[in-house]
Amino acid sequence: MNMNRGTTLNSGESAPRLVEMLDYLHGKYNNDIARDTRQGLAASQKYIPCKYFYDARGSKLFEAICQLPEYYPTRTELSILRDIAPELMGTFAHKDLVELGSGGNLKIRILLDAAGESNRATLRYIPVDVSESSIVEAAQDLLERYPELQVLGVVADFTSQLDVLPTERPLMFCFLGSTIGNMDEDDSIAFLQSIAGNMKPGDRLLVGFDMAKSKETMEAAYNDSRGVTSEFNKNVLQVLNKELNANFDPSHFDHLAFFNEACSRIEMHLKANRDISVKLESIDMVVEFKSGETIHTENSRKFTKRSIEDMASRAGLCIQKWCSDRDGWFSLVVMGLNHSSWAKVAHVT
Ligand code: AVJ
Repeated sequence: MNMNRGTTLNSGESAPRLVEMLDYLHGKYNNDIARDTRQGLAASQKYIPCKYFYDARGSKLFEAICQLPEYYPTRTELSILRDIAPELMGTFAHKDLVELGSGGNLKIRILLDAAGESNRATLRYIPVDVSESSIVEAAQDLLERYPELQVLGVVADFTSQLDVLPTERPLMFCFLGSTIGNMDEDDSIAFLQSIAGNMKPGDRLLVGFDMAKSKETMEAAYNDSRGVTSEFNKNVLQVLNKELNANFDPSHFDHLAFFNEACSRIEMHLKANRDISVKLESIDMVVEFKSGETIHTENSRKFTKRSIEDMASRAGLCIQKWCSDRDGWFSLVVMGLNHSSWAKVAHVT
């Protein structure tokens, strides 16, 4: 089923290192965009799943967002990670570090630095992402920094393909950046449950959560003064133009981002600034927009300690450690299997 091939990476003068790559995605991703778009643009509230933001340009724009003064989550998470990395990684040896949705390796480097060279030589880093190129790029950089590290890249959609991951060794899953906030509550619980299903007693899960705070602060983070978030939002239309042979004119849509109090989430939309008719040739679809109508492009949930505790317990996980910044703007939460999950694992093995 899976294609197993090595990608040779040349790191300067030294012998070429091999990154083992497993590809479980094949063309699946492209079929999904056709099906998802057909469904999303036919709905009464039109939507496009936010995973389609991240083509090469979208990924670059997201990296630029992470540097913006208004976008507090990235730098806040990094500062917490630097604080807790020594404790998390000081004794982390002979284990796998599995990163779900890797993309950019600044965060993982903080963890690997804290592990120290002798632990690092016993570790395997397993980035899981839909983008093969981003995995290979990150792996190349990591192998230059840490020649002793083993890397196994897995090209897969971690929301539906967790089962393909190797789990024989003790491991820690990392799901950082508050990416969990893009899922609705049921999906995030199901996702945590499926991670728990791949954990053994003693394994850990590190999750990043953006916390609820003042509406002004949150809304500013998604309405930056330089308009980078607006470009990022509109880029999804160019993704559809490219992937589905569509004819969206991004200038016919305005960026809209606001805090939905009742759902405790930032919503991003693209709002038609005139009546529009769009053709999507590859899926043989014509979509009409009334001026003022929106396409819902992203939810980014903002959490509380209680909402996180509730999700964890419903997923069969217990919280081992809370780590936050002084202001409580972001939390990194260490989870493990709770006792009833423990019992289930013990029963099957
Ligand atoms: C990477 C999905 C967590 O929701 O804050 C940034 C994406 N969207 N600005 C977020 C994003 C608009 C980001 N996540």
